[in-house]
Amino acid sequence: MEELREQLHSHSHSYYVLDRPTVPDAVYDALFKELEALEAKYPDFIPPDSPTRRVSGKALDVFAKVRHKVPMLSIRTETDIEASGAQNFDARVRKELGLSDDAPPVEYVAELKFDGLAINLRYEQGSLVQAATRGDGEIGEDVTQNIRTIGQIPLRLPADAPPVLEVRGEVYMSRKDFDRLNERQREKIAAGAKGEKTYINPRNTAAGAVRQLDPAITAQRPLSFFAYGWGEVTPVEQGGPDFQTHYAALLTLRSWGFPVSARTQLAQGATELIAYHQSVGTERDQLPFDIDGVVYKVNSLALQRQLGFVTREPRWAVAHKYPAQEQMTKVLGIDVQVGRTGKLTPVARLDPVFVGGTTVSNATLHNLFELRRKGVRVGDTVIVRRAGDVIPEVVGVVPGPRHAYVPNFRMPRHCPICGSAVTREKQEVNHRCSGGLFCAAQRKQAILHYAQRRAMDIEGLGEKLVDQLVEGQVVKTLPDLYRLGLTSLSALDRMAEKSAQNVLDGLAQSRQTTLPRFLFGLGIRHVGEATAKDLARHFGALDAIMGATPDQAASVAQLLEVNDVGPIVAEAIHTFFQQPHNREVVEQLRACGVHWEEGEPAARAPQPLAGLTVVLTGTLPTLGREEAKELLETAGAKVAGSVSKKTSYVVAGAEAGSKLDKARELGVPVLDEAGLRELLSR
Ligand code: IVH
Repeated sequence: MEELREQLHSHSHSYYVLDRPTVPDAVYDALFKELEALEAKYPDFIPPDSPTRRVSGKALDVFAKVRHKVPMLSIRTETDIEASGAQNFDARVRKELGLSDDAPPVEYVAELKFDGLAINLRYEQGSLVQAATRGDGEIGEDVTQNIRTIGQIPLRLPADAPPVLEVRGEVYMSRKDFDRLNERQREKIAAGAKGEKTYINPRNTAAGAVRQLDPAITAQRPLSFFAYGWGEVTPVEQGGPDFQTHYAALLTLRSWGFPVSARTQLAQGATELIAYHQSVGTERDQLPFDIDGVVYKVNSLALQRQLGFVTREPRWAVAHKYPAQEQMTKVLGIDVQVGRTGKLTPVARLDPVFVGGTTVSNATLHNLFELRRKGVRVGDTVIVRRAGDVIPEVVGVVPGPRHAYVPNFRMPRHCPICGSAVTREKQEVNHRCSGGLFCAAQRKQAILHYAQRRAMDIEGLGEKLVDQLVEGQVVKTLPDLYRLGLTSLSALDRMAEKSAQNVLDGLAQSRQTTLPRFLFGLGIRHVGEATAKDLARHFGALDAIMGATPDQAASVAQLLEVNDVGPIVAEAIHTFFQQPHNREVVEQLRACGVHWEEGEPAARAPQPLAGLTVVLTGTLPTLGREEAKELLETAGAKVAGSVSKKTSYVVAGAEAGSKLDKARELGVPVLDEAGLRELLSR
């Protein structure tokens, strides 16, 4: 039994902490079952730190109180979010230590400030005996049963660990685990489960899970842990570790099986602290978990002792924050915005707050169902999140009483911009304005979509100009763009003759285009760039798709023959070209001189490679990647981005990388350019 336990401890450390599994899951499960069977037979020989005991114990009524042997301190925060936060701290440390200006830089440890819940883990004789929350720093709560369920926390330490060891760190939930958890919750809710909810953010979810009275529930929440300090430890005189620096101590904790962040590093003086703060700041949104800042600590433990504490805060450490990505604020109103496809988006109008580095006064509520799920009403205090360049969103309502009755938000029945009826299709979450290009909001977005680089690429036609053109009723439909003259453009606000001429030049140049760009630019629902290309290749000419009259437009059945076009897309294309006003727009654009080269319909051209999937990697000697792709697709092959068992061929050129390795691993045939040409000539 002991041997099995040792093996299981070691495998789970590799799996959870090192992220480098040493055995397949099935092997782990088999060992686990074997141990369980033995323990069932010999229940007197089950130690509390057995791997089978991670989830055990009954639900509690309350948590027992725990007095910390060494108080759990808090940390001073530099409210200043600029570089000077590090400078101030370094200057204070140097002053307290009596260092002169020409003395060498102080050595620090720079760490991430994890956004979770502080925990003290107590080990006696190498076994986890108690886990406690910070509480008020003196007295916390005993959450041992819950903490045991966290795979990254060792239940047992190696033989060189001291007889008494308290490790301190942060329990948190990774963003991926949080998203997955919410995904599952949404499925449960959709399936009609009662009393289920989605969670607001990883921090609160992690904290809630740790303070959950039933450990079986905690076990279902995917939690993680990082160690960043320690409490009581067997003293050196009694054979405990002789730590000299914070950094060396963390490395030792890592060697005993605790996860220590790879971003923890040494830094010499304020300059390197500032560099750390900046580099972590740029990566913040890409980290797998939330942080709210960084922490600087004096590395030498002797200097730490010299610096000491002020009340509950050590003088040797400081937290240096980043602008918060979540803020609380009040909802002043809920507006509805209309997008290019007529989608109505409820948007919360907010009491302006500074979040994620800018002042935010509007945040998306996505759609009516999200809004209802979150239960947002006007007057509520909500949490707004703005991370990176993502559009600010309302993540949830801060619970609290409503002092007056506030009616639930309703989607308007008529478009707030054009007054057309608002509709919602079955199975769809979005409400839409049915006004089409009659609706000014849709018109603006449609023009911007048509003009964008990936479509007609009209230089100089930006958002501000389009607003003016649509609002001034100068441009009502896409063809109106090509009827613009120097006089009408220069008459607009802030439009000099030179820039007006640039816009006209941009428009003139855009007349010469390609069929895929034109099709994409029309903004047919579900028709992105890739589908536009497939359509163009399949039909060759626009008339083949449109037909001479609405009833001759390509049928849904014909459209379904196109590569990657399914029923929803086919229906959307068919419907689009049946509308007389859409056909009119196309005709007028052609009459305004918009043209492209038409080709042979691929449907009639032979497709010798239909059914094959090919992956291109590396640089071919003569064929460009786009060219190779075009040739393959014209011959009916599908060109994919990654190699799988279903890949028919991998075409590899110079400096081919992992895709080539993968092909060899899976035994997928590999071709060079000559091989590709031969394939194409079949
Ligand atoms: S050290 C003596 N290091 O921030 C210093 N704390 O008030 C004690 N935190 O609740 C804390 N990341 O949960 C330290 N790398 C880190 C941290 C960290 C997050 C949290 C901790 C505590 C709060 C500090």
